[in-house]
Amino acid sequence: MSQSKALFDLSLEDARARHAVLVKDIRAHDKAYYQKDAPEVSDADYDKLRQELEALESQYPELITAGSPTQTVGVKPSQSFKKVKHAVPMLSLSNVFSEEELEDFIGRVRRFLGLSEGEPVELLAEPKIDGLSCSLRYEDRKLVVAATRGDGAEGEDITENVMTIKDVPKELPKDAPDVLEVRGEIYMRRSDFERLNKAQEEASEHIFANPRNAAAGSVRQLDSLITKSRPLHLFAYGVGHIPVKYAKDQFHIIQTLKGWGFKIAEQVELFDSTKALIKNYQLLLEKRADLDYEIDGIVYKVNRLDWQERLGFVSRAPRWATAHKFPAEQAVTVINGIDIQVGRTGALTPVARLEPITVGGVVVSNATLHNEDEIERKGVRIGDHVVIQRAGDVIPQVVQVLEEKRTGKEKVFVYPERCPACDSLAIREDGDVVRRCTGGLICPAQAVERLKHFVSRLAFDIEGLGSKIVEQFYEEGLIKSPADIFILEEKNASLDTPIREREGWGELSEKNLFDSINERRNIAFNRFIYALGIRQIGEATAKRLAATYGSLDKLKEAMEVAHDRESESYADLLAIEDVGPAVADDLLGFFAEAHNRDVLKDLEAQLNIEPYEAPQVADSPVVGKTVVFTGTLEKMTRPEAKAKAESLGAKVSGSVSKKTDYVVAGGDAGSKLKKAQELGVLVLTESQWLELIS
Ligand code: IVH
Repeated sequence: MSQSKALFDLSLEDARARHAVLVKDIRAHDKAYYQKDAPEVSDADYDKLRQELEALESQYPELITAGSPTQTVGVKPSQSFKKVKHAVPMLSLSNVFSEEELEDFIGRVRRFLGLSEGEPVELLAEPKIDGLSCSLRYEDRKLVVAATRGDGAEGEDITENVMTIKDVPKELPKDAPDVLEVRGEIYMRRSDFERLNKAQEEASEHIFANPRNAAAGSVRQLDSLITKSRPLHLFAYGVGHIPVKYAKDQFHIIQTLKGWGFKIAEQVELFDSTKALIKNYQLLLEKRADLDYEIDGIVYKVNRLDWQERLGFVSRAPRWATAHKFPAEQAVTVINGIDIQVGRTGALTPVARLEPITVGGVVVSNATLHNEDEIERKGVRIGDHVVIQRAGDVIPQVVQVLEEKRTGKEKVFVYPERCPACDSLAIREDGDVVRRCTGGLICPAQAVERLKHFVSRLAFDIEGLGSKIVEQFYEEGLIKSPADIFILEEKNASLDTPIREREGWGELSEKNLFDSINERRNIAFNRFIYALGIRQIGEATAKRLAATYGSLDKLKEAMEVAHDRESESYADLLAIEDVGPAVADDLLGFFAEAHNRDVLKDLEAQLNIEPYEAPQVADSPVVGKTVVFTGTLEKMTRPEAKAKAESLGAKVSGSVSKKTDYVVAGGDAGSKLKKAQELGVLVLTESQWLELIS
């Protein structure tokens, strides 16, 4: 059964809690993937989380927030590279996984454009290269800036490194436009990847998990000489914006780019039926293993540029394109044991230790088992032969147990009811699939994970305090709780072996560490809240809390009063977007604990917490207005009208009430128009509406 079906049974409250968990997980995975070039789950698992989130949001649209991963692309660029704003945002793609979903995609395009039955929709199919996307900006036909995608709006400046890639033209011919942004995928060939890893191994250097990580790791080098020594390539697949005279459709954009000296993937073809698309998909799937570069699917793009323009975007992805993903790669191996890992919020996660096996060119020895229900559902026992699956990543998943291979010696795994790190009781709350350690800060696993979270990039962002160092300092007792970070310099002065005298450290790195710690003594309130690592309080919710309460004193005060569920403060808390009773429980629970209040007090003594500055809202005449469309519209389809209105900040509703600001009435408008007139709501014609928003 698919995840989305099961969702229909969730109450809004449970859906909200699940939503928060999904958002947090997806963000963490995005970060591991985009910033650290070190994904922690398989692509297939990641896609599943995203699909579940989308299904949840389509059932409960009230859960959609601006910060949801469905509304954003990637993650903010890291601090090591200069930032670059993309002239046209770099977007992500929606996915389809079956013929049926592909038909749905084409159906949506047709409906949106209001196409008649017989009119064909031509789609350009091209391989989806598994590398990292790059934007190349040319001014006066010279390459001036190359950037990663980053969060879609802003990426990292990797110009110097991209200059070393031979496939990237540094200059365009005279007939190219004055300003042009070319989009493409930087990748490493499989054969080069294997050679590189061999050389890395001999030099006792970092081994890359797969060609994509190797490419990403090579491009995001601070030293371009290293990048130059790495065999990188680029396929161009699009442009940010191009005047019509250069290309009449998507197919010609590709041809034009080829003419200007860019490398284009093979197997780029036009199709106008699902049948032909599926045939092409099968063909490419068969060819996949023989290609010297990794592809993880096929991208379909509506060929007509005027249609692309009309179709526009749904927050993070274009409506005119989608990716038809290939199934993940699989292999059979044996489970030697199951370990339990403890995360920051005390969540126990089972990990299968596998007999090492090569899957798609990568040696795999761990697989996630997600949670105890999953072990139960799949019937996994220690000693079992299992099918594992990875899709280009490090931690694969167990798909299925091969029961026919059982010998009778397999052992049932008894899920622990105590935390393996601190022996506290681990309990499952009603409706939670996850068992959690109740040890809180006395649990070393949680304490260390919380410290890691505290210093992580979206929180205090303390450079020089990486995971390994946090673990080491914790074990030594140098940093036990967050405030210890800020007295580390003082403590260090009286240590027998100060940090600078330790292996891997020196005067300079010690100084840099204390500098970066001291720099963070001024911290934005929203980051501070996020850093506390309160369960379900992600970055977006932290921002909302910061915006609502303004200061830590106010927040603490409000939390104290809100403990009374009858109070106005509690109602105010629930009125915050994204905060439902479950989130409120976690938040109030945090502030009610004496040891957490101590942590806050210690931190306040070290820090200057700055009030949160809310970003400006977009300017449009219809921001925050509620609009109802009714009757037959002439110049746009209903979905098109809705999408446009929403992109301008308006809310589109299906029914007229006193709260409606505008009713846009097309031909043959009936009861809604009448109701609007009765209620005295402003009624506009379609052209008046278009004029208003133009
Ligand atoms: S088009 C607005 N075409 O896939 C259209 N993307 O999941 C956005 N990718 O960030 C992308 N091959 O890095 C496009 N032929 C192709 C691609 C491709 C690989 C990557 C690209 C993008 C990601 C989206």
